[in-house]
Amino acid sequence: MEAARLQAAIRAATAAGWLCPDPLSGDTGAALVLHDLDLLDAHLDALGAAFPSSALHAVAVKANPVAGILDHIAARGFGMEAASAGELALALDRTAPGRVVFDSPCKTWTDLRTALQAGVHLNLDSLQELLRVETLAQEQPPTGPVGLRINPDVGAGRIAATSTAVKGSKFGIDLAAHRDAIVAAYARHPWLNALHVHVGSQGCDLDLLVAGAAAVVDLAERIEAAGGHVAILDIGGGLPAGYGEDGDPGPSFEAYAQALRQARPVLFTDRFRLVTEFGRRVHAAAGLALARVEATKVSGGRRIAVTHLGADLFVRAVYRPAQWRHRITVHAPDGSLKQGPRMPWDIVGPLCFSGDRLAKGRQLPALEPGDLVAIHDAGAYTLSMWSRYNSRLAPAVVGLRGAEPTLSLLKPAETIDDLRRFWGA
Ligand code: LLP
Repeated sequence: MEAARLQAAIRAATAAGWLCPDPLSGDTGAALVLHDLDLLDAHLDALGAAFPSSALHAVAVKANPVAGILDHIAARGFGMEAASAGELALALDRTAPGRVVFDSPCKTWTDLRTALQAGVHLNLDSLQELLRVETLAQEQPPTGPVGLRINPDVGAGRIAATSTAVKGSKFGIDLAAHRDAIVAAYARHPWLNALHVHVGSQGCDLDLLVAGAAAVVDLAERIEAAGGHVAILDIGGGLPAGYGEDGDPGPSFEAYAQALRQARPVLFTDRFRLVTEFGRRVHAAAGLALARVEATKVSGGRRIAVTHLGADLFVRAVYRPAQWRHRITVHAPDGSLKQGPRMPWDIVGPLCFSGDRLAKGRQLPALEPGDLVAIHDAGAYTLSMWSRYNSRLAPAVVGLRGAEPTLSLLKPAETIDDLRRFWGA
């Protein structure tokens, strides 16, 4: 987010009482997440424009389940991809079943029954799940699309933990090992009419994503030749976000669509209905987290700023700093960008363990209590991966609109009573 807009947002959030830079004025708002709804809209527009208008874009709920954000996505007519019973409930609270895709990698009989009764698009993760659905279909044939998630083993991207189309992956059905069983299942069941692939999240180049989509196109042809029918191709998510200092947002939806079109032109005809499940590229750049500096110290020659966000909101960046890094800017309590000579700072979080460090030796201007650390590109897989350790309260999320932004509350801050409920009191 550009500095002037951020400054205006910080001022407005402070005036509204959602942000509290001054340690003397209290603790509510010592951390806050901003979500730029204009940028979210720009991403949704770009996504819609890149693919045929018949495509269903089911935005991954796991990337950002904040109520106000899901409401916004639903109001824009986009769908939702749900990866658990909880996410399915969040999606169905606000979206028609025809726009919901259910992808949990661990579905119970109850999950399957719920999804079939609701009529959502159901992707099955194993041949055992298929057996369960075959049993349930004897009572009542599925009304919504049903697909198999295929693991085409196209290889890993740069991050092993978020690469899924690899040998030995826990996701999907191993295509090489089970090709005949897969093809036969489509010939057997007219309700099995979709194919699903998701290659990975972040660290996957366009070539790798395209290889995954191409594999399911080719499989669909084999299925047709054997008497089955595939009407819907769900190509998953995985378009990476930028995260860099240079503000490069990463490859565009348009670039990905072009590469897909080049590899398999049939994807852009009315032969298939396309489904996508993007999360990170839709949300990451729209989010920005603000954490008040509570104290500074020098220890072992290192300058350390203790702030209100760490491994609770930034699980990946703290535990895997070599792979996940966020741009950081620092701001005075009035929101202005801090200038002045840069020096190495360790930005640490509030949690009781030594590894709770968001940045090590980052070149930043001088910091003092009451300053604000802005952690950029924080809109995806941050609050959704919130860690309950130390019973810290999750921050509020505020939406921004316009150049002199108007603010709206998308999710209130957690309260001590929310916390008591979590722990069973
Ligand atoms: N579809 C499926 C089936 C998925 O598993 C995922 C992400 C998506 C779509 C959305 O992928 P995206 O477009 O957001 O890359 N930071 C997390 C990332 C886990 C991603 C999980 N799946 C982590 O570090 O665990």
